[in-house]
Amino acid sequence: MPSATLCVSVEGHCATGARPTEPECRMSLSPSEADWPGEPPTYATYLHLDHLLSLQHPLAADVDPRTRAAEHFFIIVHQASELWLQQVLLDLDAATAPTASTPPGARHEHLARAEACLHLMTAQVEALDHLPPDAFRAFRAALGTASGAQSQQFEHLRARLAPAAEHADLLRGVAAAFARWQRSHLAVVARLLGDDGGTGGTPGVTYLQRRVLASDRVHS
Ligand code: HEM
Repeated sequence: MPSATLCVSVEGHCATGARPTEPECRMSLSPSEADWPGEPPTYATYLHLDHLLSLQHPLAADVDPRTRAAEHFFIIVHQASELWLQQVLLDLDAATAPTASTPPGARHEHLARAEACLHLMTAQVEALDHLPPDAFRAFRAALGTASGAQSQQFEHLRARLAPAAEHADLLRGVAAAFARWQRSHLAVVARLLGDDGGTGGTPGVTYLQRRVLASDRVHS
């Protein structure tokens, strides 16, 4: 059986410089597919379900089924958000690519899709209303100092939407959708944490309030 060399992922991108969705990038191939590139895909192999559905690892030990399901839900919301963010960044790249390579109408298509993905992320963060505070407290210690504030994709998105950035007018709708996500996130955090600090070491709600105000000032 021939063995294929898989690309090494660097910050979510292929070492070849290709994005995961580009044909040059083979980092998403499972070893079996890399060995048998001619195999027609099935639903499961095309979506890499074997990998995707085995990437959820609740950390809290010796907990009851309710706490385990709650932590699983918490992980899924974060993972799904990162997947949508990957799509948002891909579409923003395409929307702001040099004009020559962009067919007419495509900018709008990419921007509208990026906005739709951000709305889905807002709906997902709002679904955390179904994470009761006591169930959250039961696994929170297992998170250690891990925090959404460490999300690199969010940082990239924030940088893309920064005020001095080129294409500021073009990105107005996307920036508004991002601000909506921020406000929904703040509401969830206020409900679940109250006056408690964040796992990332900030004071929590007051820190996030300042971040939301800063975005409102920039994009109003
Ligand atoms: C139980 C639900 C959640 C709680 C209690 C929570 C709490 C917090 C807190 C307290 C912070 C401030 C930094 C810190 O000290 O940790 C923060 C920041 C952040 N969280 Fe969450 N979060 C939740 C869900 C999410 C979800 C689903 C995402 C999506 C990936 C997310 C992404 C972020 C991002 C990007 C920041 C940085 C915001 C900024 O600096 O402006 N969080 N979160």
